[in-house]
Amino acid sequence: MARRLEGKIAIVTGAGSVAEGIGNGRAAAILFAREGARVLLVDRKREAAEDTLRAIKDEGGEAAVCEADVTVAADCARMVEGAMTRWGRLDILDNNVGIGGGGSVVEVDEAAWERIMRVNVTSMMLASKHAIPAMAAGSGGAIVNISSISALRPKGLTPYSASKGAVIALTKAMAVDHARQGIRVNCIAPGPVFTPMVSGRGMAPELREMRKNASLLKVEGTGWDIGYAALFLVSDEARYITGIVLPVEGGVLLGSPGR
Ligand SMILES: NC(=O)c1ccc[n+]([C@@H]2O[C@H](COP(=O)([O-])OP(=O)(O)OC[C@H]3O[C@@H](n4cnc5c(N)ncnc54)[C@H](O)[C@@H]3O)[C@@H](O)[C@H]2O)c1
Repeated sequence: MARRLEGKIAIVTGAGSVAEGIGNGRAAAILFAREGARVLLVDRKREAAEDTLRAIKDEGGEAAVCEADVTVAADCARMVEGAMTRWGRLDILDNNVGIGGGGSVVEVDEAAWERIMRVNVTSMMLASKHAIPAMAAGSGGAIVNISSISALRPKGLTPYSASKGAVIALTKAMAVDHARQGIRVNCIAPGPVFTPMVSGRGMAPELREMRKNASLLKVEGTGWDIGYAALFLVSDEARYITGIVLPVEGGVLLGSPGR
């Protein structure tokens, strides 16, 4: 059976992980490569992306590292040029970079607010701004933006929730704007998955258990769960799907205490 992304060229932003382990971007990059894509691993931490590269090469896949900060327009341009120069086309963009940020509007510091909007939202606009013309020059493409259930069910992380809500609106607007160019744009809203972004901060075992039990399934989500959803959305199996928000959260959104 043909692999699901055979011949495709993909960019994954935040393809490293902030600490050891499997983040959402790293998982997606490994799965894309496993399914035959050649993957540009973008991260502002070169070593983090190199760890992902090693994992892909160990499985016989093809990838390359691009050290870039996706909040910087010139870096986003260079990242797309890098993929085009190396492989001659671009089919897939996984806009995965994101950082956390807590507090209410009363508590939040203005600079911290601007920063989270820049990293979580502006970066996706910049990466897409450069990727879309490259995709359109070929045979179209697929973009997946990583939001969060925090946008759908806010809980004390107001700057983060607002930024991830903007990611959902951005996804729908981009889906409308670029459908005629053969570009599908979808969004994943992960639940509380156990990735280095949260484990790297040394999460207490009780909090880890509480996050797991927030799901109806009482299952702990991982980066692989988000990676598999991204793989589906960027594959041709999802050719009739655009502008959606796919929650990947074990039913957290349907849960209530004690259920
Ligand atoms: N972990 C969760 O529970 C969870 C839940 C919902 C949504 N998400 C979202 O999933 C995405 C990935 O999360 P993760 O937990 O895998 O994160 P992670 O922190 O493990 O990995 C993110 C990677 O992005 C890189 N990065 C950060 N800023 C960058 C920038 N400006 N330019 C280039 N690279 C940059 C980091 O170096 C890191 O390697 C984020 O958008 C996050 O908001 C995570």
